[in-house]
Amino acid sequence: MAIERTFLMLKPDAVQRGLMGEILGRIEAKGYKPVAMKFMRIPKELAERHYAEHKGKGFFPGLIEYMTSGPVLVMVWEGDNIIMGMRSMMGKTNPQDAPLGTIRGDLAQQTGRNLIHGSDGPESAKREIELFFNDYEIQDWKRSLDPWFTE
Ligand code: RTP
Ligand code: MG
Repeated sequence: MAIERTFLMLKPDAVQRGLMGEILGRIEAKGYKPVAMKFMRIPKELAERHYAEHKGKGFFPGLIEYMTSGPVLVMVWEGDNIIMGMRSMMGKTNPQDAPLGTIRGDLAQQTGRNLIHGSDGPESAKREIELFFNDYEIQDWKRSLDPWFTE
């Protein structure tokens, strides 16, 4: 068992389309545990730092415009192998390659409007959590149902 934390973001299209509840419901039903959440408008510089690995690519300006176009829900969730687990639940970057049953496969059409971000590995998870949250904004809490999700 590897209990991990990952950084997730419901992008502006998820908020505008009223899909926060639908997506959060899937993550909760999986049994992952929320430890931090914040509804915010991302400043341009923060969006650029978050997606620094893509700086210089053709889609970068459009990506930053999209990510700063409205409020987002930034979050930290905890669970067994959650980093890869959430990547599977999200589906591929291009929703047209994402199978039905995944968030992007079921609910999105285009790469540039793919609803959700999730860290792609332990290092990016750590970096992204620290970029968006202070320690006091992250809750260490026990949930009485925890033993029904993880042994
Ligand atoms: P994310 O970081 O948002 O979770 O998405 P990802 O890992 O699945 O994909 P990544 O390669 O990190 O790309 C980050 C975001 O940039 C936009 N994108 N547009 N037009 C394009 O070719 C293109 N490629 C990437 C998407 O919004 C993607 O989620
Ligand atoms: Mg990525």
